[in-house]
Amino acid sequence: MAEKLTTEEILAACRAEVSGSGGDTAPQADPPAAASEPDAAPRSEGDSADDSAARETPAKPSPPPAATPGSTADILAAARAQATGSTSPDSAPAAPKPAAAPTSTSNILAAARAQTAGGSGAKPAPSEKPVAKAAPESPAAGAAVGQTPSVQEMLKEARARRPTQAESDASSGARPGPAKPPLPNKPLPKSARGPATTSRRGVLTAMLLEPFGLAWTLFSAASAVFTLAMARFMMPNVLVEPPTKFKIGSPDNFPPETVVTKLKALRGIWVVNTAQYNDQQLIYALASVCTHLGCTPNWLEGEQKFKCPCHGSGFYITGINFEGPAPRPLERVGIRLAEDGMLEVDKSLKFQEEMGQWEDGNSFVAV
Ligand code: FES
Repeated sequence: MAEKLTTEEILAACRAEVSGSGGDTAPQADPPAAASEPDAAPRSEGDSADDSAARETPAKPSPPPAATPGSTADILAAARAQATGSTSPDSAPAAPKPAAAPTSTSNILAAARAQTAGGSGAKPAPSEKPVAKAAPESPAAGAAVGQTPSVQEMLKEARARRPTQAESDASSGARPGPAKPPLPNKPLPKSARGPATTSRRGVLTAMLLEPFGLAWTLFSAASAVFTLAMARFMMPNVLVEPPTKFKIGSPDNFPPETVVTKLKALRGIWVVNTAQYNDQQLIYALASVCTHLGCTPNWLEGEQKFKCPCHGSGFYITGINFEGPAPRPLERVGIRLAEDGMLEVDKSLKFQEEMGQWEDGNSFVAV
């Protein structure tokens, strides 16, 4: 079993070997190198004792000659050249050459170890980096070929060997439960929701109590009122009045010597059926407007007269004025018997007695 050498020993051996290959006259006496030669000639017991003594005490390399390269770079360059076969062909007859020239320091040192140990003829030399990249994936396989797996490779192997959750459950016998729904977000406390002024009540309070907000509120209200007033001003004043021509029913609904007052409030007329005007039974319609100043008189059934509440003017059932300041009789409106037998009133027609218009056939209906 070859002894593992330190780097210093290997370098010393390389120096000695390089110096020996560089000049034929250089001395070859190097105890560690000689001791590591497996196929060296048998020696005497004295030599063996010397070798054991030299093995106990670390061997010191002999000082190189003046022409021998002394630096590590020179030694490595010489080792490269030797490994690639540029040196003498009999330098390493038993060691198999690697497929590619060793260029890295680790490869050179490994090759030098194998060469120095002497018994590494059957041991394959480490391959180059590209070959190491093609090493087996598992660390055990890498160790089998003498390569140390990297940390990433070991982590990858550990992840691949780690069982999944389902495999763990299956191995432990536990039944997988249903998936738990995510918990809802916890509502924030009131203190974390922000200032109270963001609420509706806070905004209303700020609008009504703060001077600036109050001013803006009043300005907005005044603007709204002004806008509404302008809109009303732009609209025309339209007075909606009832139609002037309307039907009041059959003549049978108006018995003789009666005054029907039910149309006074809605239509502004009295319907009178009497024969007191010219001894002819007539149905006519009187406007409920006082001829004095326009007030609305009332029919007094007990006194059989129209009485104005404003200034006391009085009118008979015929409409003729007889008391008070009213200067003339009440006015008649147009009335006729329609085709359907109903009485039809037309308030657009006015008939004044003082002007002889009550003789107009449109101012009465004879029954
Ligand atoms: Fe009728 Fe003056 S308004 S009496």
